[in-house]
Amino acid sequence: MDRSQLLRLRERMQHLVKSVWLKDWRSSTLFTTILSLALLGSLRRVLSLTIKRGASEPGLFKKNSTFSPFTTVSGHHYPRIRLFYSPHAQAAKLPKDLPLLVFIHGLGGNATQFAPLLTSLVNVAPCLAIDLPGCGQSDFKPDDAAAYTTSAFAELVCAAIEKFRDAESNQQVILIGHSMGCSIAALLASSTSPLRERLKCEYVIGLIALNPRAGPFIAKEARAVSRLKHLPVAAFDLIRMWDRLGGVDSSSITRMVGEGADAETRKLQQSFNEQSRSPVVLRFVAGMLPGAAGSEVGLPGEKVWSGIKVPLFLVAGEADKVTSPKEVEKIAGWLTRDVEKKNGRSDDAETHADRQRYNDEEEVAPDAEPLNSTETAAPIPTTAGDLQVAQHHLSSSLHTPSDSPMDPPKIDGVPIKDKQQHTHHAFALKTTIFPTPAAHAIMYTTSTLRPLCGFLQTFLSSHIDERLSLGWQLQHLATSGKWDVKNLSKWSSIAPCSAPIGKPIPVFRAMKTMREVDEVHNPREFVKKFGAGVLADGVAMVVDISHESPVYDPKGLEEGGVEYHKFPPVSKLPPTADEVEHFIALINHLREAPKLQPRHHPQPGVIREQPGEEDVRPVVGIHCHYGFNRTGFLIICYLIERLGYRLLDALAEFAEKRAPGIKHEHFVNELFVRYADEVGRMERRGTVVG
Ligand SMILES: *[C@@H]1O[C@H](CO)[C@@H](O)[C@H](O)[C@H]1NC(C)=O
Ligand SMILES: *[C@@H]1O[C@H](CO)[C@@H](O)[C@H](O)[C@H]1NC(C)=O
Ligand SMILES: *[C@@H]1O[C@H](CO)[C@@H](O)[C@H](O)[C@H]1NC(C)=O
Ligand SMILES: *[C@@H]1O[C@H](CO)[C@@H](O)[C@H](O)[C@H]1NC(C)=O
Ligand SMILES: *[C@@H]1O[C@H](CO)[C@@H](O)[C@H](O)[C@H]1NC(C)=O
Repeated sequence: MDRSQLLRLRERMQHLVKSVWLKDWRSSTLFTTILSLALLGSLRRVLSLTIKRGASEPGLFKKNSTFSPFTTVSGHHYPRIRLFYSPHAQAAKLPKDLPLLVFIHGLGGNATQFAPLLTSLVNVAPCLAIDLPGCGQSDFKPDDAAAYTTSAFAELVCAAIEKFRDAESNQQVILIGHSMGCSIAALLASSTSPLRERLKCEYVIGLIALNPRAGPFIAKEARAVSRLKHLPVAAFDLIRMWDRLGGVDSSSITRMVGEGADAETRKLQQSFNEQSRSPVVLRFVAGMLPGAAGSEVGLPGEKVWSGIKVPLFLVAGEADKVTSPKEVEKIAGWLTRDVEKKNGRSDDAETHADRQRYNDEEEVAPDAEPLNSTETAAPIPTTAGDLQVAQHHLSSSLHTPSDSPMDPPKIDGVPIKDKQQHTHHAFALKTTIFPTPAAHAIMYTTSTLRPLCGFLQTFLSSHIDERLSLGWQLQHLATSGKWDVKNLSKWSSIAPCSAPIGKPIPVFRAMKTMREVDEVHNPREFVKKFGAGVLADGVAMVVDISHESPVYDPKGLEEGGVEYHKFPPVSKLPPTADEVEHFIALINHLREAPKLQPRHHPQPGVIREQPGEEDVRPVVGIHCHYGFNRTGFLIICYLIERLGYRLLDALAEFAEKRAPGIKHEHFVNELFVRYADEVGRMERRGTVVG
């Protein structure tokens, strides 16, 4: 089939679908809801290409996945469920009862969608993520519709938690859901959940709902879903195929990631779409109907959401067409409205008119306490970091030193809507709505990931448990002498930060790691002494290439306008060719993002890459532990591969600026092995800098 045939087929399908199935769908939200909720995949399968499952598993998941059978309270047996579990890296030295973070993905998703968030959260808490049956690497078994209802999933998640939670120390749990995963989480967290008695999960002490849905299907949607249930899988596949013609620009992708999403995010979404399977999605959708397969709840609504008596953080994307930000406002409304007025209402009483009201543009403000926005101005700390994260560039507003710290956080100049209040149960309630183009994929869209991660960590530590802040943990470890640099006297004797490296354009500064508790070389002092805000060739961003999480809190850097990125080694020494390539790509990307430094404050003396060009290229601070061996190796590779240095010149440049240079013989030998050819080639070509 070629493209024109596909387009013709699409037209025919469109016609067919309109006339037969979709008579009253198109106007309803359902068409969007199903086909997009169900981000389903198989254009490739229809074209009989094979999909390699799990081919692109993030490294984090490869290390920490386990497969287990589970039998739930209601007797459903799931033979093979994949769980990701990572204990806190410093677990042995921290309190045993540090809360467990549990991640629940949405319809058509899988646990790896949380990988970008997990990259930083595994450093502050033990984390558990589940692939629901039929999703990700979990088997699509048992073959029993009753095992795929929202409440069956809640029981399954509960069983998984029991397996990893340390009951002895009464370890508590914080749930983090996405989309349908929020409905499952609400069933576990709510004091008014029909499952409360059965599951006894009083250990839930917080709920974070990303793109949640507030209620069950309305009548019209439910009718359509029932009809969909009987649709043969092949027909469903065709509808999906039609929906996503157009590759990364197709409507099925735009719906999830939003109109303005960058190519990387689109590709990521495309791969998610292609992974999910129609039979699974159909079964999940059927299981969401109220009364489906004998379950007592479909998707929980007002009754369950309003019984949430733990701190709650609701997050939405303004351009989300799958679960609109209105859903978040609706949930917040239930929790802040005068209890009395709403007494006696239940989920089932929700009418179409109700739903309509919430869909209207004009919102009735809930009778909530007036907002107190003192907390909303918190600066955005971010510790998320890997290649993917690095591809995101925050707007200059976040990094412009002249910005008042009281300004609300922004993305590309548009403020993020952020509310802090208390529920009528007197628990913290925070709602954040990311501006367009943020949509349904906020936890892996590059533009929202970093701020989201920052908000999340702040919420965890300031409203749920203060021990979940990296700052608290570092203090605890350092003051109890449990975690610090390897050899303090050796570390202290080394110069904190080198002169700029790279001629004629400075690219790097090599540095030793900082210590949170150090009087001299801590993040706040570093920013004052070496930051781009005070030196023309100062450090605008720090790339941490050490394996462990650092012994400082990157928040101190971010607050001073210096970005933090983590690029942990994949291998033991020395870095592989692959790793070097990724490193170079990361540095190029970071330096090319034009907004990283304030354009309107050109700093005197900064050398421009091309005369007349307005952008200033940021200088990148690199550190491993001491900033010689690994740091030197990667910097020298960059000088050779990108700036056209000859090997000996690169070694000399590094040794001059960071005396006495690379100390590790093995590293130096390796450089000679790798760049022996290069030495010859460069000499033939002459040294080209730029
Ligand atoms: C997960 O990874 C950490 C370190 O990366 C390791 O200590 C831990 O044992 C792993 N857990 C499992 C269950 O594989
Ligand atoms: C889960 O989603 C990721 C993200 O696209 C995908 O690469 C991976 O293959 C999926 N896993 C499975 C087994 O479907
Ligand atoms: C916010 O809190 C401060 C102090 O807690 C209080 O004085 C002020 O009135 C509050 N503002 C609003 C709008 O509630
Ligand atoms: C720490 O480094 C110093 C040199 O600065 C060395 O003399 C000492 O033996 C080292 N200590 C340990 C425990 O390795
Ligand atoms: C670098 O490698 C050398 C040789 O193995 C080693 O002695 C040294 O401790 C390493 N690091 C530093 C900072 O010198």
